[in-house]
Amino acid sequence: MISYKHEPFTDFTVNTNTEAYKAALELVKNQLGNHYPLVINGERITTEQKINSYNPAKKSELIGSVSKATQELAEKAMTSAYSTFQEWQYISAEVRANILFKAAAIIRRRKHEFSAWLTYEAGKPWNEADADTAEAIDFLEYYGRQMLTIKDGQPVESRPGERNRYDYIPLGVGVIISPWNFPFAIMAGTTVAAVVTGNTVLLKPASTTPVIAYKFVEVLEEAGLPAGVVNFIPGSGAEVGDYLVDHPLTRFISFTGSRDVGLRINQRASVVNEGQIWIKRVIAEMGGKDTIVVDKEADLELAADSIVKSAFGFSGQKCSACSRAVIVEDVYDEIVKRVEEKTKALHVGSPLDPTNYTGPVIDQAAFNKITDYIEIGKQEGRLIAGGTADQSEGYFVHPTVFADVSVDARIMKEEIFGPVVAITKAANFEEAIKIANATDYGLTGAVISTNRTNIEYARQRFHVGNLYFNRGCTGAIVGYQPFGGFNMSGTDSKAGGPDYLQLHVQAKTTSEAL
Ligand code: SER
Repeated sequence: MISYKHEPFTDFTVNTNTEAYKAALELVKNQLGNHYPLVINGERITTEQKINSYNPAKKSELIGSVSKATQELAEKAMTSAYSTFQEWQYISAEVRANILFKAAAIIRRRKHEFSAWLTYEAGKPWNEADADTAEAIDFLEYYGRQMLTIKDGQPVESRPGERNRYDYIPLGVGVIISPWNFPFAIMAGTTVAAVVTGNTVLLKPASTTPVIAYKFVEVLEEAGLPAGVVNFIPGSGAEVGDYLVDHPLTRFISFTGSRDVGLRINQRASVVNEGQIWIKRVIAEMGGKDTIVVDKEADLELAADSIVKSAFGFSGQKCSACSRAVIVEDVYDEIVKRVEEKTKALHVGSPLDPTNYTGPVIDQAAFNKITDYIEIGKQEGRLIAGGTADQSEGYFVHPTVFADVSVDARIMKEEIFGPVVAITKAANFEEAIKIANATDYGLTGAVISTNRTNIEYARQRFHVGNLYFNRGCTGAIVGYQPFGGFNMSGTDSKAGGPDYLQLHVQAKTTSEAL
């Protein structure tokens, strides 16, 4: 593969960077409240019904609105994507990859502007927004290169008198249903993985963060992507999502979001509808109940720091977030004390202000769910930090820590998707790994230990898609730590990994007699 390095994160201790980010926030502020249409076959379509996107840190502030697709418009988008596929599938890999490289360059030039949209629309603190934008650039750069690597398929043997080839060809029309928690990176990554491999797509972004998705569609157009390859159709899951998942022309669905919705999509996609001539493929990235295990032989400061950062970065709204910490009893009290201190020191407030570590959670439904779990946690464990919330201006939930939680407690098992972590004690390292594995999920995990034998023990037995040693369990980097999980965390389709693009193609063998 041509050389690839991930996009560096911005150093906000440097004054010029801070000033540049402030200027970007100002630029975006002046564009708040605009309306964005659907984009079908390049045509802008404005509907009567709208989806409003509000600032989660300031509920009354409209970030923008987008048009809302109906089933009729979804059908129109499908027709457009299907007919565009008849051409796009034969466009060369180089041409397709070059569009991704150009798009990456456009975003890099206006990097803080995109991040500022994320700060406003998703409530992302500066560093989290910056990482989201960097990851979007990474997906473009990495998948572009990856496509060039696989463009001639894989080598196969040929006997005398024949010439065999093994090529990858695209699948068809994909439905991309993307999440609000990485509203730029995952939305862009799942879209371009499908497009660079020669498919056409219907992009249905999360209803809480559609504006950044529209901005990305504009970037793709500027980069030269032909009309009809990406069709932008925000809409409701019940009306448009189900309709497209069921559609006989849908060839694959690339979904990132909750377990419930992922399983529903998987089930619906398994039904063969009239006129359908293939088995639909589902790529699903769902939830997590991710654990940091702390050994008795460990750097305790690193352990406490890793727990707090992994639990509360972007308010714990990552499928990779640490929502359970399992501590070997010898160091339990010390870790609990340090996690308490560090959590209480975190500033909560508007993400416009870079001194706030924790911004809001995404919306009312998330706020309600998280605060309900906090009430459950008060019955199930000892509250040592947080436990309070404030929705007067925005949806703020204070980073919350429960200690002495039993292994079978609900807050140890169910995904909360907010700034809540449950801590439990294990008699020894083996038991700690057993507890860590006692979940339906298997996405990320971390082990803090200086004991090499225990690290190797965990490498084999800690059953998660992304396992980290002596660091936190969030922040996978495209092309460095391919990301995806086991069991109910999804199809283990490793985003940002060397075989991710292959999920979007089918292999064709040709054999010519010479
Ligand atoms: N890839 C992100 C992380 O590793 C989660 O989606 O934190």
